[in-house]
Amino acid sequence: MAFKTIDDVDMAGKVVLVRVDLNVPVEGGVVTDTTRIDKIVPTVKDILGKGGKPVLMAHFGRPKGKPVPEMSLRVVLPALEAALGRPVAFAEDCIGAPAKRAVAAMAAGDVALLENTRFHAGEEENDPAMAAGLAALGQVYVNDAFSAAHRAHASTEGVAKLLPSAAGRLMEEELKALNAALGHPERPVVAVVGGAKVSTKLDLLGNLIGKVNHLVIGGGMANTFLFAQGIEVGKSLAERDMAETARGILEKARAGGCEIHLPVDAVVAREFRAGAASEVVDVRACPVDAMILDAGPATVVALGAVFEACRTLIWNGPLGAFEIAPFDAATNAAAAKVAELTKAGRIISVAGGGDTVAALNKAGVAGDFTFISTAGGAFLEWMEGKVLPGVAALG
Ligand code: 3PG
Ligand code: MG
Repeated sequence: MAFKTIDDVDMAGKVVLVRVDLNVPVEGGVVTDTTRIDKIVPTVKDILGKGGKPVLMAHFGRPKGKPVPEMSLRVVLPALEAALGRPVAFAEDCIGAPAKRAVAAMAAGDVALLENTRFHAGEEENDPAMAAGLAALGQVYVNDAFSAAHRAHASTEGVAKLLPSAAGRLMEEELKALNAALGHPERPVVAVVGGAKVSTKLDLLGNLIGKVNHLVIGGGMANTFLFAQGIEVGKSLAERDMAETARGILEKARAGGCEIHLPVDAVVAREFRAGAASEVVDVRACPVDAMILDAGPATVVALGAVFEACRTLIWNGPLGAFEIAPFDAATNAAAAKVAELTKAGRIISVAGGGDTVAALNKAGVAGDFTFISTAGGAFLEWMEGKVLPGVAALG
């Protein structure tokens, strides 16, 4: 898709409204993961470098259209100022007099942050009046929030239609990486899809089958596929009522030439807790009173061979119950293999989704992937093949 970037728009002396994603984890009033904040720094610096005045707007939490003091964006100010290495002015409201005052007070080199856009119902309703209120503050719009681009809101979609618009550096980077992974990838391509439920990933699986050469299914959803093929999975998490759907997916994949890879062995336990006694069994030999909580070592070896044969990999969802040891072993080992192939220049690896990034961070290999998306829901919708309104509005 063709869109303008910061390089294509004149910003000298102009107020540039920048939609960023500052929906970061906060505990006890402190930001605990600054990844999303750190990632917008190049955009803000490049706008400043072009003589523009960046005015940042973002949502925080889900206040549902009214001011909620605990969801004030003021909480991210210290982390934002630290990341940018300069003070940031704060406007108590994202539209109207407080916003206008803050913008009017800006000199060259200043940065301002507007209060949570979701304090107004017009944000999520994509109300034209709300979009106009935002647009009235500046002369240029930059969207750097790929991770919020699945929302057609006033600050992500409506305002883009009212001002000359461009993609920020992070938005550019995300779109480039995702295009390299699924749009025009080097083949063969393998997708790794894990997580608990098939039912939440039907669209995603349907889209991937038509696009990738290999599809690895892991996590709880693999149990559903095993069950659908007549394999007893004991007390494992499985959506038994999805068996017919799972068989349909397998059939479609076969017909379309997409090879599906399911676990061949499993780590089973009687209890779901850290350090629970566990054993490795053939996937056809899960005891009736046990649960499959991870893929086994033979599966990891088989996946390694698939990864070695591929040029591109896209990953969403862990292979097992990665939150608790020892059921993180397959996810860790598979992630380490991807990291090794990526470092050797043999594969392009892209991963996204909240759980996935947490798992890769836990495995200590996130930094070795080609690209880790900052997006959760937006990454999923993009993997489903959906058009993201915030991206479309830039076109
Ligand atoms: C996210 O954290 O995934 C994005 O900021 C979007 O937030 P939302 O799911 O509340 O729209
Ligand atoms: Mg979300």
